[in-house]
Amino acid sequence: MRLGVNIDHIATVRQARRGAWPDPVEAALICQRAGATSVVCHLREDRRHIRDEDVRRLKRALSIPLNLEISIAPSVIKTALAIRPDQITLVPERRQELTTEGGLDALTLRRRLQPIVRRFQQRRIAVSLFVEPAISQLDAARALGVESIELHTGRYANAAAAAAAGRRASVQALQRAAAYARGTGLAVAAGHGIGYDNVQPIARLRDIEELNIGFSIISRALWVGLDRAVREMRRLLR
Ligand code: PXP
Repeated sequence: MRLGVNIDHIATVRQARRGAWPDPVEAALICQRAGATSVVCHLREDRRHIRDEDVRRLKRALSIPLNLEISIAPSVIKTALAIRPDQITLVPERRQELTTEGGLDALTLRRRLQPIVRRFQQRRIAVSLFVEPAISQLDAARALGVESIELHTGRYANAAAAAAAGRRASVQALQRAAAYARGTGLAVAAGHGIGYDNVQPIARLRDIEELNIGFSIISRALWVGLDRAVREMRRLLR
């Protein structure tokens, strides 16, 4: 199971004082040394944490893939096309939200998504869609010709904190969706709300190849340091 570490919240802390430190690029290099297999960041329209220059520097500094999350807003698409990360993940975005809420509706948005997907692929940037674990969304992703999907684990993460029955059902939904997506030739990642306490049932799912985890690792790093926080998560994934 591969581990993509989302470093947005290193930049959240930096933006608290709008200075140069802590530097998300330095954080990404620590994650890389500690065994992360990719680095993830979200260039939000309001640039509340990661900024364009961070993405440019990350792209130059990393030897592991850079996975850039963006919405379908034209301004961020233009930046992403210019910077050329290894992969983009298209996510829904609302200005007022604290973090990404729910998956992208690939079915409803398919006509808007098609030319966007094509433009990235023409620039040799792989495209992933962040979607709910629903067959209709996976079919839409497949029809759009993207390389991969990332299953939204938010429902699982919320259920994991509540009743065991809800948690079992949401693990099964993720397993079914992952198996279906792999069967159609899509690469499968998952993420959102995954932490040290709830990662293992998801890490056991054979058809999920990669987990993208941010908040829990950056929070844990406050206590034990980032290197150890990443290594601890790697161990749980194994
Ligand atoms: N995957 C996607 C597509 C996301 O938008 C996020 C949050 O930015 C994550 C994974 C990571 O979620 P968390 O920070 O809750 O681990």
